[in-house]
Amino acid sequence: MKVLDTPTEAEISTSDFEEGVQNIRQFGYTVHRNFLSSDLREALWDRLDEQARMERHHGLAELSEEGHAGNDAFIGAADEARPPAYQKVSFLPNKGRVFRDLMLHPVALTYCERMFEGQPFVLSSQTGMILRTGGARQVLHVDQQPVPFRTPFPILINVMSCLSDYEPDMGSTRIIPGSHNLSSPDFTKPYDTLVDSSGGELHAVRAEAGSAVIWESRTWHSQWFSQSQAQRRSIATVYCVHFYRPQDNYPALVHDEVYPKLTDDEKRMMGFDAYGSAYGRFEPRSRYDPRGNVNFHRRFTPEMHRGA
Ligand SMILES: [Fe+2]
Repeated sequence: MKVLDTPTEAEISTSDFEEGVQNIRQFGYTVHRNFLSSDLREALWDRLDEQARMERHHGLAELSEEGHAGNDAFIGAADEARPPAYQKVSFLPNKGRVFRDLMLHPVALTYCERMFEGQPFVLSSQTGMILRTGGARQVLHVDQQPVPFRTPFPILINVMSCLSDYEPDMGSTRIIPGSHNLSSPDFTKPYDTLVDSSGGELHAVRAEAGSAVIWESRTWHSQWFSQSQAQRRSIATVYCVHFYRPQDNYPALVHDEVYPKLTDDEKRMMGFDAYGSAYGRFEPRSRYDPRGNVNFHRRFTPEMHRGA
């Protein structure tokens, strides 16, 4: 199957939501300009920078010399004078209100409503990414790779908020336009073979700081080699339809000191809603456990015996 020709920068880049939706339908992705206000971008940058720095300092940083694709990923400390090419900061909703504000960004949610065709959705993961020079190329893949069949609409939407510019030499994502109409690639095959088999060509995404690069989960893509001295900083906020298992299990992992601060809207987005009061139910883990569904309430009910 022949996929589409590569769109021009002017075609793929828009600040108009309807045009963005049309881009995703046609090409599998869009660049939404002015997605972040300058205040929000600055707040996200500062919080991510401080968190990343402290995780490096305390030996808790998720690092790789190769980049997001690295098979050498490890958790540890880093020499500030020469940090590894890649640092990932996971589970961001635990690490600052500003990340939870981003999670509920109305434009992101509107894209999800449209692309998921009205199906309820939740947060799958939210991850900060800092990429320096030396990052390697990632395998060509789709984000719904574990799903063993084609789906009539995407299962996940990735909203990549660009805190820095997102340039080809900074390892920006390469995408094959129109590849969301194909079956998922067998990423164990050689990279170039897969590109040839797609019938399309790789497009190096370019976006200004403050934009969001948004792609749906059937679109073939990969992070590219990073050669620039400039750091690429971005936050991937990934949403999935409610019937697909999220990457990160928020009802289990949200920190005890964060849970009381969550609004009901944040809880719903993080999977505390029980759909139809039937799916995703849970009950308190002890008599004193404050956690529960926002719409399904049970008291702690342990194994009980007569006379006990
Ligand atoms: Fe991906």
